[in-house]
Amino acid sequence: MKLIDSIIEFHSELQQIRRDIHAHPELCFEEKRTAEVVAQKLNEWGIPILRGMGVTGVVGIIKNGSSNRAIGLRADMDALPMQEFNTFPHTSANAGKMHACGHDGHMAMLLGAAHYLSRHRNFDGTVYLIFQPAEEGGGGARRMIEDGLFKLCPMQAVFGMHNWPGAAVGTFGVTAGPMMASSNEFEVIVKGKGAHAAQPHKGVDPIMAAIQIAQSWQTIITRNKNPIDTAALSITQIHAGSATNVIPDEAVVIGTVRTFNVDVLDLIEQRMRTIAEHTAVAFDAQVEFRFKRNYPPLINHAKETAFAIEVMQSIVGADQVDAQVEPTMGAEDFAFMLQHKPGCYVFIGNGDGEHRDMGHGLGPCNLHNPSYDFNDELLPIGASYWVRLTEAYLRKA
Ligand code: NI
Repeated sequence: MKLIDSIIEFHSELQQIRRDIHAHPELCFEEKRTAEVVAQKLNEWGIPILRGMGVTGVVGIIKNGSSNRAIGLRADMDALPMQEFNTFPHTSANAGKMHACGHDGHMAMLLGAAHYLSRHRNFDGTVYLIFQPAEEGGGGARRMIEDGLFKLCPMQAVFGMHNWPGAAVGTFGVTAGPMMASSNEFEVIVKGKGAHAAQPHKGVDPIMAAIQIAQSWQTIITRNKNPIDTAALSITQIHAGSATNVIPDEAVVIGTVRTFNVDVLDLIEQRMRTIAEHTAVAFDAQVEFRFKRNYPPLINHAKETAFAIEVMQSIVGADQVDAQVEPTMGAEDFAFMLQHKPGCYVFIGNGDGEHRDMGHGLGPCNLHNPSYDFNDELLPIGASYWVRLTEAYLRKA
């Protein structure tokens, strides 16, 4: 691996920052202390900042030379509403909150790059270090864009990175095109007419209608969409009734739809609505159908992905970069940034993690597990990637 020596020398400081943030997790749009830690470090290193975009967002700005080219590097800041099971000294001090997705490490890697870039300045142009709130469902990326991120910080491209447990330390994974799915929620309320369970003919049973709707929806996946297209339609909740001898008034069906493509999503939403409304009619029931689009699919741009691959290969070697990593049906709000600017999002291997085998569960630990911890070995790898990406993108003439 060709890591940057002075970043390796800075490892213990980055680890300290990372563990301090880990011990003080904050949720969506509440990242006050976290933003303060980030802002203080950037100030300490003489890097000007912009604050307030996306409520708690922080953007560090490093300019060098005369070029008006610019690049954006993004890290997310929020934690998850779950209880940490780890017992090490930097375990969460905030009950019910935990950095179980490694955003603490994402911030530390970007701070490592910020520290180096502000000192060595081997580039011509502007680097925007984007510390974004509320990735976990809050759409912090969208909020920062609405608050003028790309107007106040004009840039040609934007890049993101996420740690990936299960992939070895010293590896990267990426693919051009769709890499993460759009995430969407639906809720259908089927309204019937309550009755005695022994006199079903005097009511309208919403449960039977709800079951028909739920089953018919699966035919959208097998009969309506092109088999070549990827989509998941999962019903995750069904609520109805309160007694064995009562037919309830209504039944509720809730779940999620994931696709890599907006056209497929349009088709699925439209078919779900049609099936729900017409099945309800067939059962003499009524229906309320709601469909909410949360995050769009994350689609990496071809040119910027090829560029990022070259940089990753220069650090860890060509055989350690999976340039056609399998896409995941998970979602990521960096997708909003890629709708506005060309760019690329990559996975950085987090290892299988013997360093976090205490606590809850057996074997390798995944994202969002109560025993998860970001692997500090990654700090100089990720920071070196950010630096080399910037130096290559803003190459001196
Ligand atoms: Ni995450």
